[in-house]
Amino acid sequence: MNLLAIETSCDETAAALVAETGDAARPWQIRSSIVASQTAIHREWGGVVPELASRQHVRDICGVVEAALADAGATTADVDAVAVTQGPGLVGSLLVGVSFAKAFAWARNVPVVPVHHLAGHIESLVLAHGELPMPAAVLVVSGGHTSLYFISEPGHYRVIGRTRDDAAGEAYDKVAKLLGLGYPGGPVIDRLAREGRDDRFSFPATRLTHADRNAPRATGSDLLPPDVARRTDFSFSGLKTAVLRLVRELAGGDDAGTSSPSLSPQDVADICAGFQRVIIESLLDRTFEAARWLGARSIGIAGGVSANSRLRAAADARGAAIAVPVFVPPLPLSTDNAAMIGAAGLRRYRSTLAPESQRLDFNAEASLPLPS
Ligand code: KG4
Ligand code: ZN
Repeated sequence: MNLLAIETSCDETAAALVAETGDAARPWQIRSSIVASQTAIHREWGGVVPELASRQHVRDICGVVEAALADAGATTADVDAVAVTQGPGLVGSLLVGVSFAKAFAWARNVPVVPVHHLAGHIESLVLAHGELPMPAAVLVVSGGHTSLYFISEPGHYRVIGRTRDDAAGEAYDKVAKLLGLGYPGGPVIDRLAREGRDDRFSFPATRLTHADRNAPRATGSDLLPPDVARRTDFSFSGLKTAVLRLVRELAGGDDAGTSSPSLSPQDVADICAGFQRVIIESLLDRTFEAARWLGARSIGIAGGVSANSRLRAAADARGAAIAVPVFVPPLPLSTDNAAMIGAAGLRRYRSTLAPESQRLDFNAEASLPLPS
């Protein structure tokens, strides 16, 4: 089966053709994957402008799908099913993909499978490396999400930790903005941090404990002991505020918070390195603690922030120390792409959705729980 996958949840218009291999251990193969990034458009505004994003998706979607088919040497007649990101994401952006996918499926009389964006990030690991040793602990860490999942069998995702405020990628983007480094922040902080000292500034690592006021029920409390479950949620807004305070202090009372004219390049590099150390430790401490408690036989890290070089190296080192393999996607599959949506679409199509139950009346959903 050849499945055409569409992803338009944020600021990338993406289409891919993904095929089944017939090999249960390595179930899918990418025949083509095209990503049209809108970064250059949004950079000017310091972040994604939803209305501009939707309009650009409308301009790009047909050309991106045509390119994906052409790259695979395929035509519309070769498409046996369509998968599309239903949510979560920017609803105007999602609607472009959802409308296109439904129209294509209806015109070609093939099924259309709605896919959860985070299921796509999780399945990017399987697409790249084959089925993970089960059970697995998988961290999805991107611009919009920071969530930790326990996967006891392929396709069954149970959330055991999530951020209470900012996503990790959002923290990267906000810190880059207040350092005047532009958008998106992850790649540039990753690069500058290599030139910096990570111990010059000490930023606080947020610890969420039972003493936190108004703390909701800990996310993983049905799977983990209560004290561990309380520690597996994330919080990054305090770290971002600490960086902001330091920048103002170093910049001599400048409280604009948008640029850093009086910081030296070394200051900026040291701030990047210190910020990154704290964020990575906090991501990995929780992931590895949960993995240990749950007896995970593998650990996965997916989503845009998994492109981070220090996160990759630190995760590998920790995995090697406890003899648990760590999987991250190759760079083109870590940031948003449609191939991962194709993988999750084929998983869902084969597991729960019988072809006769295909319907066209699903809608784009800005927020959407990940089915477990
Ligand atoms: O998965 P993704 O492409 O989109 C969402 O679903 O959000 O992730 C984008 C996020 C951005 O916040 C970006 O700054 C971050 O991933 N990112 C990185 C790196 N490359 C991208 N963060 C840290 N280090 C990187 N090398
Ligand atoms: Zn994403």
